[in-house]
Amino acid sequence: MNSCIEIVPPAISKTEEKRARKATDASMIKLLPALIQAAIYRNQREMISVSTQLLAATEGTHTLVHEKLKRLLRGPNTSAQVKEPPHTLANIGLPTIALDDVVLEDDLEADVQELLLEHQRRAELQAFSLEPRHKILLEGAEGNGKTMLAEAMAHSLDLLFIQVKFSGLLNSYLGETGKKLDEIFEYAAGQPCVLFIDEFDTIATQRGSNANDVGESQRITNQLLLSLNKLPAHTVFIAATNNLSALDKAARRRFDCELSLGKPTQALRQKLASKELSPTLTPGSDLSKWVAPVAALELSNLDALVKLCRRIRRDQALYQGAGIQSIISRAQAPLLPA
Ligand SMILES: Nc1ncnc2c1ncn2[C@@H]1O[C@H](COP(=O)(O)OP(=O)(O)OP(=O)(O)O)[C@@H](O)[C@H]1O
Ligand SMILES: [Mg+2]
Repeated sequence: MNSCIEIVPPAISKTEEKRARKATDASMIKLLPALIQAAIYRNQREMISVSTQLLAATEGTHTLVHEKLKRLLRGPNTSAQVKEPPHTLANIGLPTIALDDVVLEDDLEADVQELLLEHQRRAELQAFSLEPRHKILLEGAEGNGKTMLAEAMAHSLDLLFIQVKFSGLLNSYLGETGKKLDEIFEYAAGQPCVLFIDEFDTIATQRGSNANDVGESQRITNQLLLSLNKLPAHTVFIAATNNLSALDKAARRRFDCELSLGKPTQALRQKLASKELSPTLTPGSDLSKWVAPVAALELSNLDALVKLCRRIRRDQALYQGAGIQSIISRAQAPLLPA
């Protein structure tokens, strides 16, 4: 008989657990203003300091949150010697666009998933002396989602998104741009993150293509090649261009893969139009009959398609859809519903 072993009644331990959780919740809530302030002012050092306190507070009481914080804080740049973020040169923050927000052709979506998987299963690759592919070139005409896709990849990987600002980079004194690029790459290399440069061809310009160039663009491209060579695999570098032929060939060769966001097909336009005109965005109204006519339009890009769908939704919201037919006609629809 061992009935006397049950010394602690389970009701008491439950109450204690609840009390401990309440105390943790209270201390976590007190940290929120400091965390929000650090986020607003993009003070990474403060953000890490508060997050470290949150990590300690959640131990043993909020296991899932604790594990997630641990993962976020795992980077080598989370110690006291964290570098000041180069705010004048880049927008640095947590990504908000999710992969579900970006519509992609099936093949491209499969390629993206494959890349993401390599990062999620990095340890298995390392066992085979391999690294995940982490230098990615996005190519394609403007307005088809290159920037969105870069941010969505950062979101999927739960990584900081660092987007280079051209104003800070190119409007600098002669000889300064290379140095600034180096500063950005060095910062990005210090932690797991996604570093994104749009209009990459304007930075990595084909050397010797401009007769008026006094060597500055050559210097910048050379600097870039050095930075790309030493970039660690935990830094995912994504560059976008809509002018592949202007891109320096050696710089192009540095990428592990190229993804093309080409001219959207009718199927892709249909997918995006269904999303933009979905009943979840227009509660109480059914705009599904306009999906096919919108998808049939040969608009210049997906950006134009999204804008058109939003005009349609606005018309529905304000005038019960009285102007939709005319909005589509003016956008030159070859097909209109009866
Ligand atoms: N694939 C897509 N899925 C969903 N929305 C899209 C897509 N492509 C474009 N859009 C819409 O167009 C807008 C502009 O897209 P984005 O800035 O990502 O294009 P881009 O290819 O980076 O263009 P640019 O070459 O001018 O930089 C987005 O904010 C979104 O509204
Ligand atoms: Mg872009």
